[in-house]
Amino acid sequence: MNQEYTFIFDKTPSRVRIQEHFPLIERICADFEQVSRSPLGQVLLVCDEHTEYMAQDILGMQELPRCVLPPGETAKHWMSVEAILGAAKEAGLGRDGLFIGLGGGMVSDLTAFAASIYMRGAGLCLVSTTLLGMVDATVGGKTGFDLFGMKNLAGTFYPAPLIYMPLDSLLGLPEAEWKSGMGELIKTAVLDDTEGLWERLRSLPPGGKPNLKDRVFQDNILACIVQAVRIKGRIVEADPKETGEERVRLNLGHTFAHALESAVGLGQVSHGEAVAWGMVRACELGYALGITPRDRGRAITSLIKGWAYETRVPYPLLEEPGKTEAFMRALEGDKKKKAGKLRFIVPCTQGVQAVFAEAIEAGLVERIISGA
Ligand SMILES: NC(=O)c1ccc[n+]([C@@H]2O[C@H](COP(=O)([O-])OP(=O)(O)OC[C@H]3O[C@@H](n4cnc5c(N)ncnc54)[C@H](O)[C@@H]3O)[C@@H](O)[C@H]2O)c1
Repeated sequence: MNQEYTFIFDKTPSRVRIQEHFPLIERICADFEQVSRSPLGQVLLVCDEHTEYMAQDILGMQELPRCVLPPGETAKHWMSVEAILGAAKEAGLGRDGLFIGLGGGMVSDLTAFAASIYMRGAGLCLVSTTLLGMVDATVGGKTGFDLFGMKNLAGTFYPAPLIYMPLDSLLGLPEAEWKSGMGELIKTAVLDDTEGLWERLRSLPPGGKPNLKDRVFQDNILACIVQAVRIKGRIVEADPKETGEERVRLNLGHTFAHALESAVGLGQVSHGEAVAWGMVRACELGYALGITPRDRGRAITSLIKGWAYETRVPYPLLEEPGKTEAFMRALEGDKKKKAGKLRFIVPCTQGVQAVFAEAIEAGLVERIISGA
């Protein structure tokens, strides 16, 4: 069942290991020395309160310096970065040290950011424990933390040379987190179907309670993760720092999603839930602009509804007074503007395409999100 895939981020190889069990610490260290071609110094394990229990699966009877963060998006702030840097200093890590991030996208984004600035760049290994982390967050070198109420306002590009995705970690994943990861998986299937991910997702029982004990479900999820990693890996190889037209495609649904997350308060809506809602809005924008064929938009929306995502407008939490205005302000501040211009990614006949906000009639986006 184990699969390995390497993609190159701007000349730096990232080796991804999708495997049944957790990697043991000896294995991680040996693999890291192999990929970095240099002897390893001190190691720091970073996790959150929900993923700490998995440390034992990696460490066995061994002890390692560790930094345990509070869980969830609300902890994705500078104080957590400082806590990681402080723990690294306390543990005596040098530039030859290794940060191991054990957790979902929150832990991996923060650990990778801290590793990228610690002594101008230390070793990094990510052990991903959420579906979202596996299919998206750990692949592609983006790191960061939330600042001034904006998601990932500060960050760096710092790809992990070594990434593990142990399926065992998903056994204890709460259903809401499965759903969150499914949102990013559906997004990946919409933007690139060369791997057959779209059909595979449609063949899964919709909204089905994940049953990792079931061999067929296990095989399907493994295949989905492998396909999503390959798709994202290829996109990142083609356009590592989102300076071209490739990587921006990954933002399908995200312009709406980030504004929603910011407007209702970070952590109130899971990232995948917001992306799913955002993809339906992107289809509606695409209809209005004559870019998204109706039958394609309907198929995307139906797959999203099948997983029981909130697709209504206005989003229930946006009904509170002042939230629509907050949404529009967050949109304006979206950092994915290029040359000061806001971009939306919408589905087209095959794949997706970018549309600049200036090509969109005034008031259309507001009507779409308010359902007016
Ligand atoms: N860097 C990127 O390219 C990129 C891409 C997409 C998303 N992200 C970021 O990823 C984050 C979302 O990732 P996420 O959904 O993994 O969130 P998360 O890391 O906050 O995890 C969600 C919840 O699940 C818990 N958890 C994690 N693994 C578990 C397990 N195996 N069993 C039980 N509980 C577990 C966590 O403690 C947390 O409470 C966001 O901050 C987002 O900005 C980054």
